[in-house]
Amino acid sequence: MSGFSRYDARVKLASRPQPAQNLTGQGYRDGVGHGRGEWNGQAVFVKSLVTCYEGQQQRFLHEGAIASRLSHRLVTPLLLASPSQLIFPLIEGCSLRELISAAPLEPRQAVAVAEGVLQALVYLHAQGVVHHDLKPENIMLVGGEPRAQAVRIIDFGMAHDRRAAHDTHAGTRMGTPHFMAPEQFQGVRGDPRSDLYALSVLLWDALCGQPPYADPLGWLLGFSDTRAALPGPAALHPLLERSLSRDPQERPQSAREMLALLREAARGL
Ligand SMILES: Nc1ncnc2c1ncn2[C@@H]1O[C@H](COP(=O)(O)OP(=O)(O)OP(=O)(O)O)[C@@H](O)[C@H]1O
Ligand SMILES: [Mg+2]
Repeated sequence: MSGFSRYDARVKLASRPQPAQNLTGQGYRDGVGHGRGEWNGQAVFVKSLVTCYEGQQQRFLHEGAIASRLSHRLVTPLLLASPSQLIFPLIEGCSLRELISAAPLEPRQAVAVAEGVLQALVYLHAQGVVHHDLKPENIMLVGGEPRAQAVRIIDFGMAHDRRAAHDTHAGTRMGTPHFMAPEQFQGVRGDPRSDLYALSVLLWDALCGQPPYADPLGWLLGFSDTRAALPGPAALHPLLERSLSRDPQERPQSAREMLALLREAARGL
């Protein structure tokens, strides 16, 4: 299978990797099975490659290669990458999407989750990694608690790694329209400010249960600027407004700057 040689060079593969056992709850999406299992006596979440399509194989390898070099308390660690499985610790809790679907978060809770994501982004961006698919589905919360320290970022399938020799997704418009920054939609890869845009959509969504644009493609294409009313307390509005700017230059310029602005705004809650 093409791609494994590049992948093997970058990911420390055990010589005979022990696969995860007793997989249950296996659902499939884009050539990858998702399920729970056991590995070395530990409960794990496993992504299994079950496709012969090269694009899907490449995305799987790409995720393993990036996740394998990350280490931060708010980023889900990769326990093992084999050519057919990516094994992560099972997070007992729920995704931010599940929480929002039950009810929008209290402003302080939404800010706390955004703070946790921003702390992780300070680390990721310093590592040269831009996530490019931040959304409530890709934020797990340990114990289902909307706290900064409960945040665990998942899913590096679309991420950009400045240190990698090759960008699997170069020239693509991959992403989720509601959360995709306009420049990312134009194919710009690896700009940390695209993650800050997505984070502000995530905060908006957490505050009111809906992202800002009913027609995100119209906004991305420049046909429509119609946006819902700013949600949540007025103290958060200037930061939301600024971080959703079409022009990345008008947004906070780094995760560290946005974190400081968010903390300052949250004092007014
Ligand atoms: N470590 C984990 N522990 C528990 N559940 C997890 C874990 N990682 C992912 N999940 C669950 O599986 C879902 C899909 O995971 P992930 O986003 O990494 O896969 P994906 O291949 O990108 O699929 P999708 O296109 O659905 O996002 C998550 O939304 C989450 O509910
Ligand atoms: Mg995902």
